[in-house]
Amino acid sequence: MSNLVSELLAKMTTEEKIGQLIQLTGDFFQDGKAAITGPINELAHLKLQTVYSVGSVLGVSGAADVRRIQENYLANNRLKIPLLFMADVVHGYQTIFPIPLGLGASFDPTVMETASGIAAKESVAAGLHVTFAPMVDLVRDPRWGRVMESTGEDSYLNSVMAQAAVKGFQGDSPWDEKHLAASVKHFAAYGAPEAGREYNTVDMSEWRFREQYLPAYSAAINAQAMLVMTSFNTLFGVPATQNQHLLRDILRDELGFHGVVITDWNAIEELVHHGTVRDLKDAAQKALAAGVDIDMMAFAYAEFLNKAVELEPGVLKLIDESAQRILELKETMGLFADPYRGLDESKEKDPEFIRDNLVQAQKAAEESLVLVKNHRRTLPLSQRQNLAVIGPVAQTGDLLGSWSWKGDVETTQSIADALVDTFSEIVTAPGCGYHSFNKQQVEQAKLLASDADVIVAAIGLPSSESGEATSITDISIPAEQIALLKELKTLNKPLISVVITGRPLLLKEVHTLSDAVLIGWFPGSKGAQAIANILSGKVEPSGRLPMTFPLNLGQVPLYYNAYSTGRPIEVGQKNGEYKYVTKYVDSSNEPLYPFGFGLGYGKILLTDMTMVSNSLKMNDQLILDVTLTNDSPRDSKTVLQCYTHQKVGETVRPLKELKWFKKVTVEKQSSLKIQVNIPVARLASVHQDLSTKVDVGDYQVMVGFDSMNLKVLDFKVKE
Ligand code: NOJ
Repeated sequence: MSNLVSELLAKMTTEEKIGQLIQLTGDFFQDGKAAITGPINELAHLKLQTVYSVGSVLGVSGAADVRRIQENYLANNRLKIPLLFMADVVHGYQTIFPIPLGLGASFDPTVMETASGIAAKESVAAGLHVTFAPMVDLVRDPRWGRVMESTGEDSYLNSVMAQAAVKGFQGDSPWDEKHLAASVKHFAAYGAPEAGREYNTVDMSEWRFREQYLPAYSAAINAQAMLVMTSFNTLFGVPATQNQHLLRDILRDELGFHGVVITDWNAIEELVHHGTVRDLKDAAQKALAAGVDIDMMAFAYAEFLNKAVELEPGVLKLIDESAQRILELKETMGLFADPYRGLDESKEKDPEFIRDNLVQAQKAAEESLVLVKNHRRTLPLSQRQNLAVIGPVAQTGDLLGSWSWKGDVETTQSIADALVDTFSEIVTAPGCGYHSFNKQQVEQAKLLASDADVIVAAIGLPSSESGEATSITDISIPAEQIALLKELKTLNKPLISVVITGRPLLLKEVHTLSDAVLIGWFPGSKGAQAIANILSGKVEPSGRLPMTFPLNLGQVPLYYNAYSTGRPIEVGQKNGEYKYVTKYVDSSNEPLYPFGFGLGYGKILLTDMTMVSNSLKMNDQLILDVTLTNDSPRDSKTVLQCYTHQKVGETVRPLKELKWFKKVTVEKQSSLKIQVNIPVARLASVHQDLSTKVDVGDYQVMVGFDSMNLKVLDFKVKE
């Protein structure tokens, strides 16, 4: 413990220490006075003195507001301990990057690191110290609205992206004035609610949790994330926010996390609803016992203030530990040296400050868009072609996605506007609404489109339909939009669908009706321009799917790295050929688009692959020399992907697991040699005793450009 922190702790009363453990929204600090308006009126027990001793504030940003609140607070706080300001800066602050699912689709950790770094820089100027990101929850059920905030269904991709995000937010020295502290969330397994229903029960074996869900949190913690946020859900039968096994045994003891644990919003109070505590006081005690440092908006720790004199020595010790961790975070962030660290009103308002950031946002969007169909090279379009841009998403700036903080939909360029800049002639009309259709509107769109060379259908969902609390039971593209596509199809022109979405959707009909399909996600502030650049061929599509797109809802959850079963369906086996295998009688097991899938405009082939040694020891690396050849007349990009499979394990093994990937450019008419290095340690699996280790035995490595079409080589791991 530093001198500063120990001296402060020695001076602090128990009430002041408890104060550090409380987080309030900005509403309590309105008008620069500790508020006497807003929620405080409803909480008679929260005295003004308590407000002047709380440790942190959430949801306020903007240099002027932060300065005003901090100044007023410091003038009233006995020991002049500055407030920490926290907010959900997820995929950008002023400059909005693609949603995290899109950043995952870039399959390029430098894209995630850059996006997070820029988000940090802009947030710091606005007075923030901590972001509630990255969300690294593994997701497999597109009914859950928050899949948009994750980087997808694969634990290795999620781990790589988690590390990159923490590095971007925090930098090498989080206390410099360009970086924020990151809170990895939601610990743990929040992305696996039953039936994809928000806030529902999560239940899985600890073996499975450790195999697939834990790695990304662990990666973020290894990257030195300074905070961890607990999740709303239960895990192993106990809500995360009071789960000692999760928060003490696994998080603190095993993963070695020494930072601050914060709850999700009101999560301590919700323990009462879970029925695992008697009342709010019991909830507070159980959360504290589990090692929760900050109570976000449940007022449960605030209840302790009145009872401080009655607290047992064991509880006082826990309060001391939490207060120490929070003060250490403030010290690390440089707040004692400068409570107004990084805050800069002039930068906030200066368009120059974000100009370069917008360039990066466009690059990120270009890397994240996924071309999933391109029949007879419909794309790229020639700039001389006349375009009709039709669809409910054509003329809207609603391309930012949930959590876009200061991003402004009103001033965000629409897809139609971006295409105007690129193509000679454009006509545009909505054709239908997101969920509405009328004959007149569609006829008008068809009339406009009848003179065009090509139709771009901008379809999908508004941002309000993905994100927190937006679980749905039907992941189809709305029937009204399918009806529009059918009408447009009657014009017999090339039809390109650009799909704006925060989650995998059922796109079978879109696929059948369209000549080309581009998944746009919510691509951010410069997303429309990125889409225009891909359609015109100025930029090569290089995003790959970070989640499986199912064929139908009944297959959900569908993910590529399923475990071996006792009755596998053989490759090429027709449905109906055998009854008693793992399959549906009314649907194939296959997805519409598999994990890792995406097309480019050039044609890159894997023309050679050799293994340096097929017999490896525990400390070795699996080394492959791979040759990629691009015979096409344009430079092309792809994502080379390597999966492994352990033939015999102590516990069942996934059919394949991503272990390495790299985005590469292969110049036209040329070959590129790439060396793949996979440390044998990365082949570790979780055993029955929950230990994680590598087994000796036979393995396969599978190499290709998506999770389905792969070249296989065998190798062995020896003692
Ligand atoms: C609830 C969300 O689950 C969490 O991700 C977010 O950080 C908090 N609200 C604070 O806004």
